[in-house]
Amino acid sequence: MTAAHPHPSMPDYARNAWYVAAWSHELAAEKPFAITILGEPVVIWRSASGALNALEDRCVHRLAPLSLGRCEGERLRCMYHGLLFGADGKVVEIPGQELIPTHARVKRYAVVERHSWLWVWMGDAEAADPALIPPAVGLDDPDYILGHGHLDYAAEARLINDNLLDFSHLSYVHATSFGAGPQFAQSLPKVTPLARGVRFERWTTDTQGVNIRKTDGPVDSFQSYDFLVPGILLMWSAHYPVGTAAALDFGPPDPAKAIGALNFTSQAVTPLTERTSRYFFSWGPHCRHGDAELRDRMMAIADIAFGEDKVMIEAQQRVIDGTRDPRIMPTSHDRGVTLFNRLVKKMAGQDGTPESAALDAAE
Ligand code: FES
Ligand SMILES: [Fe+2]
Repeated sequence: MTAAHPHPSMPDYARNAWYVAAWSHELAAEKPFAITILGEPVVIWRSASGALNALEDRCVHRLAPLSLGRCEGERLRCMYHGLLFGADGKVVEIPGQELIPTHARVKRYAVVERHSWLWVWMGDAEAADPALIPPAVGLDDPDYILGHGHLDYAAEARLINDNLLDFSHLSYVHATSFGAGPQFAQSLPKVTPLARGVRFERWTTDTQGVNIRKTDGPVDSFQSYDFLVPGILLMWSAHYPVGTAAALDFGPPDPAKAIGALNFTSQAVTPLTERTSRYFFSWGPHCRHGDAELRDRMMAIADIAFGEDKVMIEAQQRVIDGTRDPRIMPTSHDRGVTLFNRLVKKMAGQDGTPESAALDAAE
């Protein structure tokens, strides 16, 4: 048998992007952590010195997972027949054999710990630029009181991205949980293309707020989020005195001038395989607008709401999989979906397979 070569899988996704692999606290020192991203098995480990490394999780010898291996200083030993790998992916020792072939190496991935997440660059490690890591809010941010979690999906990441790029589903999927009311589906947000994503901004004027953020009197409520490559949602929202939206000509307000309900959520969609994904999220109030008790109530609602998305999206995936030639019919709410998917397609550097063309929203 010849060694299987890693194949570039899932061509519809951008490789030159930082994917969230785990919460930082999921990775204990010298305990290799396994995850599949874009169909590629990746092992991440923290050495005793604290250095973070990521390699292809597949030994060159007989393809055993290196995540079952043993940390030895900065190196990782395959615990099947003992090949020892350097952090650069090169084999440095083969028990019982002097000569180490030059091709005895696995792929190295760039990995960075930031904002409480471990980010893996799926393109060439040499081209990885940490400046492109989206500015998520970490769990240790002193300004926010955040809860967090993650959810595994039996669905392709792209369907979750599409869901997060069109909040008109709030009026239906989350009719009671988030309690957003019909206005999300009846009005369009302002949508602005960004270099690596799309920005959504929305004022709801003269409202009583929604669910846990219900107010005694009417307010103007602002919500804005950036959805960034490869699938990172960064959103804040807050309440303002009635009239603020008009006074700002419906432009963005200053978060510091919010009169209530200022909160932030960071979310990340990671494609594991073609039909599985992991969804990471944190949410909570600004420390001047809430406390741990409010955070817990927010997370309880988020858990229900994210479960609602999962039911719908996994069911949607099953229908798509059972459809010979799946085609969609975009609506006016799909503008953000279209802009984002177009950007990803451009980054993925491909001109469209029949399947992706069929599922691609056209304007
Ligand atoms: S499979 Fe890794 S040493 Fe044999
Ligand atoms: Fe949702």
